Amino acid sequence: MSFFSKLFGSKPQDSSIKDFSWLQTDMHSHLIPGIDDGVKTLEDAIAVIEQLAALGYTKIITSPHVMLDGYVNTPEIILRGRDDVRNELSKRNIKIEFDATAEYYLDEGIFQKIKNKEFITFGNNHVLVELSYYTKPMNMTKLFFELRSAGYKVILAHPERYPFFYQSSLEDYKELRDSGILFQINLGSLIGLYGKNAQSYAERLIDNNMIEFAGTDIHNMRHTEIIKSVFQSPYIDKLAKSNLQNNSL
Ligand SMILES: [Fe+2]
Repeated sequence: MSFFSKLFGSKPQDSSIKDFSWLQTDMHSHLIPGIDDGVKTLEDAIAVIEQLAALGYTKIITSPHVMLDGYVNTPEIILRGRDDVRNELSKRNIKIEFDATAEYYLDEGIFQKIKNKEFITFGNNHVLVELSYYTKPMNMTKLFFELRSAGYKVILAHPERYPFFYQSSLEDYKELRDSGILFQINLGSLIGLYGKNAQSYAERLIDNNMIEFAGTDIHNMRHTEIIKSVFQSPYIDKLAKSNLQNNSL
């Protein structure tokens, strides 16, 4: 059984949507070589970016991981990497806008970054954050509050992937949204890339109009093939009709 038939079962659906030009901008990916668990080489970065351009994206805002215990990426490291990729794109005459932000892990380091105004924001002072997949951070509410109070618009990456939010009423999701947190799902969740629960909660969040953004969260070339198969999800049509804000960034 192939990887794709495993994901879909025996009868893949076919969507009327065949590219991502309606999204215009992807603001979640790991395309600066060698600074996180994303692409390893400049060559790989360019190959993935070419694929994203072929899928209809006109702008990429890549988002390397930043976390105290792991990827200690400073704005300087990220922006230098962005410039290297930009230069290579321009050398090869590949027409796509390429910028960078970061995917900030919600840890104690956030307090210092607020103090030093150290975030690489995008859009209109937007900041992309992620949580642990295992436990809800004890100080999550405080950290979100501090970020919002400092004037940042907080986007939570892949809310469908955090098991501690899973409950039939979606109460925790509603509470977060009521406090001003915006949601960005991963496109791969729609085809079960991160498991059945993540797929089911991504679908429920879409059904309840609780999604502002959709990202690829692309890490490597193999991932591009998976992203292409997202068109086989019936939810891609629903997502396209749900007034996402990708194209306003
Ligand atoms: Fe990511």
